[in-house]
Amino acid sequence: MKVLVATEKTFAAVAVDGIREVVEGAGYELALLEKYGSKADLLAAVADADALIIRSDKVDAEVLDAAGKLKIVVRAGAGYDNVDLAAATSHGVVVENTPGQNSNAVAELVFGMAVMAARNMYNGTSGWELKGKTLGIHAFGQVGRNVARIAKGFGMEVSALDPYCPDSAMEEAGVKPVHSVEELYKNNKVVSLHIPATAETRGSVGYDLVTMLPKNGLLINTARKEVIDEEGLRRALADRPDLKYVADVKPDNAEALESEFAGRVFFTPKKMGAQTSEANINAGIAAARQVVAFLKDGVDRFRVN
Ligand code: 3PG
Repeated sequence: MKVLVATEKTFAAVAVDGIREVVEGAGYELALLEKYGSKADLLAAVADADALIIRSDKVDAEVLDAAGKLKIVVRAGAGYDNVDLAAATSHGVVVENTPGQNSNAVAELVFGMAVMAARNMYNGTSGWELKGKTLGIHAFGQVGRNVARIAKGFGMEVSALDPYCPDSAMEEAGVKPVHSVEELYKNNKVVSLHIPATAETRGSVGYDLVTMLPKNGLLINTARKEVIDEEGLRRALADRPDLKYVADVKPDNAEALESEFAGRVFFTPKKMGAQTSEANINAGIAAARQVVAFLKDGVDRFRVN
């Protein structure tokens, strides 16, 4: 059996070593396709793969058509909006993710970006401190929980909105539950986005919400660019010169925003949230173990389709 690791954005070498150990230790063959230049490379590589481990790599019907032997795709990470679940199901392919494995890495980056924005992108002028400020966490999943934990260390007042999470779970973490999106944006100087990109959330954060932020508000997006209504965000930043937007998920209109709002927006050149050796090791090895458990024993605990 062949397990293909196809990562346009590569794992740290030490994570690949760990994946190899798990896969080969189970008696399977490991194939690596890293930093591939085109979809054609992926289509060729999946032809004889029984299992596929990916990151944000797109797996659509064309990839699945080309992968005649494929039984399982594991997205080494949390968000699986890059996989066409319906197509996978119709091809009889199981899809899994590795929830929680890279969440601390993403949460730490939130604070790297928060401090950078609060200190005016390190331009030498006087900024502000996170201590004592309000933080609203938009979705209290694994990343949101890590953000809350770290925010406490900064001395922030933390609230969160998540219709899928009981208030008691937030309260146990010392977080104030909020029950409307308006309340979240109105009452928090810093809002950190952690909603997945789904049919429900696409384009859901736009002009109305962003302009609800209090004076000198900061919106941080380490989730997905698709959840933002980009034209709405642009108008909000134009109408409210006090607001800032920093993102680890570069918007399509990044260049326009950077030139119109210089010093008030920042985008990482490539998604960096999960780009640590620790997160790569955690998510990569978890993915390899899940592949082996599925191929050997049919275990599909993290199945999402
Ligand atoms: C995730 O959904 O796990 C993160 O967005 C990380 O994505 P990446 O593996 O492409 O860095």
